[in-house]
Amino acid sequence: MPIIAPSFLASNFLKLKEEVEMVNNSEAEWLHLDVMDGRFVPNISFGLPIIEAIRSATNKICDVHLMIEEPGKYAEAFKLAGADNLTVHIEACPHLHRNIQQIKNIGMKAGIAVNPHTPISSLQDIIEDVNMVNLMSVNPGFGGQKFIQHTLIKIQQLREMIDAKGLNVEIEIDGGVTEANAAEIVAAGATVLVAGSSVFNAPNPIKAISDLRNLR
Ligand code: DX5
Ligand code: ZN
Repeated sequence: MPIIAPSFLASNFLKLKEEVEMVNNSEAEWLHLDVMDGRFVPNISFGLPIIEAIRSATNKICDVHLMIEEPGKYAEAFKLAGADNLTVHIEACPHLHRNIQQIKNIGMKAGIAVNPHTPISSLQDIIEDVNMVNLMSVNPGFGGQKFIQHTLIKIQQLREMIDAKGLNVEIEIDGGVTEANAAEIVAAGATVLVAGSSVFNAPNPIKAISDLRNLR
C-alpha cells in the first residue's frame, strides 16, 4: 500500500486548521508541503510560518518539497519550522552531495526531486545517500496539471536502480495523481503518492485518500 501525501497547495488556506485535521483523521501518513520561490519555478506558494503552523497541528510526517534556488541556505530554518523530510531539486543544486549531507546531519530525511526532463541516470552517483526521490510527473510550479505518462518508464528505471543496489529509498510521485492512475503508478514501483487537487477538490477528501491508498 502506498503512503499518501496530500499536497496542501490545493487546500483551502482560509480553513487550514480544518484541512490539517481532515488529514489527521485520514489514512494519509504524510503531509506534502510545497515551497516555491518564484525563481526556480514560475510561482510563489508559502514558506516557513505556514509550515510551522501546520506542524503545530499534526503529528504526521511533514514532507517539505523545496522548489527554490539555493535550498542549502534554508535547510536549518525548515528543520526548526518542523520539517521531517526535506526535498531539494537536483536542477537547483550544483553541490547536491553537500546539500544532502547537510539535511541528514541536521536530522531530517533527505529527498531529491527531479523534473520531467531530468534522466534517472543522473541519480546514479547520489542514490545511495538519499532517503527518497521525488519524480515530478508534471512541471513543478502549479497544482492541477495532467500526469505526464512518460513518468511510468522513469519509475521503472528508478525501481531497477534502487533494487539493483539493494537500497531502501522511497519513490514519491508528484503531480497529476488521481484514483484513475494510482494503481499503475504503484505497479511501476512507486511507494509514495502526492495528491493535491484529487484530494482537496474531492467531494469527500477522506474517502479520496482512502481510495488512493487502497488503490480502489
Ligand atoms: C507541483 C507540486 C505538487 C502539486 C501537486 O509543483 O510539487 O506537489 O501540489 O498537485 P496536483 O496533485 O494537483 O497535481
Ligand atoms: Zn510537491
